[in-house]
Amino acid sequence: MARLNPIFVCTSCGGETLKWQGQCPLCGEWNSLEQRTGARARATAPAAAVALGSASGAAPASARLGSGAAELDRVLGGGIVPGSVILLGGDPGIGKSTLLLQVAAHIAATRAVIYASGEESVAQVNLRAGRLNLSAAALGLVAETELAAILALSAERRAALLVIDSIQTVQSAAAQTAAGAVSQLRECTAELVRHAKSTGTAVVIVGHVTKEGAIAGPRLLEHLVDTVLYFESEAGSRYRIVRATKNRFGAVNELGFFAMTASGLKEVKNPAAIFLARAPEPAPGSIVTVTRDGGRPLLIEVQALVDRMRFGAPRRIAQGLDANRLAMLLAAVNRHAGISLQEHDVFVNVVGGIEIAETSWDLPVVIALASSLHGRALPAELVAFGEIGLTGEVRPVAYGDERLREAQAQGFRLAVVPQGNAPRKPGAELRVVGVSRIAEALEAALGPRS
Ligand code: TYD
Ligand code: MG
Repeated sequence: MARLNPIFVCTSCGGETLKWQGQCPLCGEWNSLEQRTGARARATAPAAAVALGSASGAAPASARLGSGAAELDRVLGGGIVPGSVILLGGDPGIGKSTLLLQVAAHIAATRAVIYASGEESVAQVNLRAGRLNLSAAALGLVAETELAAILALSAERRAALLVIDSIQTVQSAAAQTAAGAVSQLRECTAELVRHAKSTGTAVVIVGHVTKEGAIAGPRLLEHLVDTVLYFESEAGSRYRIVRATKNRFGAVNELGFFAMTASGLKEVKNPAAIFLARAPEPAPGSIVTVTRDGGRPLLIEVQALVDRMRFGAPRRIAQGLDANRLAMLLAAVNRHAGISLQEHDVFVNVVGGIEIAETSWDLPVVIALASSLHGRALPAELVAFGEIGLTGEVRPVAYGDERLREAQAQGFRLAVVPQGNAPRKPGAELRVVGVSRIAEALEAALGPRS
């Protein structure tokens, strides 16, 4: 019989250590470690195994619940899987409750739905439903924070969907701490997972992510649930992006796009150009590229500013893309295109606050740098994408056809792309110039050097 070693659990971050310390080695909180009894008693009965393929719990695709928003279904991998647990994280006020109320009302038209709101009163949620033109009549709305009561109601109504808004406000008697404490979050989530798996009710859990509580909040719950969605937006933007960072029932890193309007969240069916709001007059240093995020093409403006250095060491600032890669590109243009920026400050910015995590922005950045340096604006109907290698070559990137198609659909007329991405047959509306060296690309975009 194995000895049961005590373990110590941090009440702040939920981390576990084998010996007691004054400070949690994981989150740095003082006096937060508490002893727990170690391993559970061994199970005596052997577990039952089920042959794969015959698993009765496996839900066919047709059993998924449509959320009423194709953008959300897309991120979920085709709808909500019965018995699954979805965590929806995001900053307070971003629109989590709005989205879920819309989804809940849609599903409530055909199935039983329980919406447990611990944040707002029933009257407040009703008011919101009214503003959103949703019929909340079929919706089982409860302003309850006692988890056991919520679960009992969900079981009684045989709910197809249970929404918990938010996990920070519910509490379970099993964890003897206040709502929102780490042990409460864990215990409540674990109970919700057990409920979902045993009843087949799909559960959506709302979790606020605050700047300081990012670790102690929903992050802690990510491994307990099937799917983790994050609801994001840029400051001041009305667009909202839903991103799956974990999904046991679909691909991760799919994106869904919504716009917050006076009558709730509206899907953005063709998001390719939502980040494109350019100045009417082309300005030096601005270029549009086609990136791929979340499995589809997005047109994004990249801006570069090259300014004579005034003082000290030259500054290299990259916003939305990797600063090390920018340094590499600067070396490559110096060596292979004769553009020396050693005495210049260089700023590069991806407009719209988007992060580009692929190499296709190399070529547009280099063109934008040259455009800013020479003070020469690029044609407004130009797009560019492509990777740049250390020997000055322009390398093809994945999904070239798809990027070109989107650029053409958005009305661009000239594309400077890697030779390997240029189609063999010239297109009617979009002229594609395939290039294989940096210098060639600069000439194609900016015209011959004067
Ligand atoms: P909410 O869904 O309450 O955010 P969360 O649950 O993530 O905290 O969204 C609140 C914000 O959304 C609030 O600032 C007002 C705005 N909003 C609209 O712009 N239009 C609407 O129709 C609704 C219901 C909210
Ligand atoms: Mg809310």
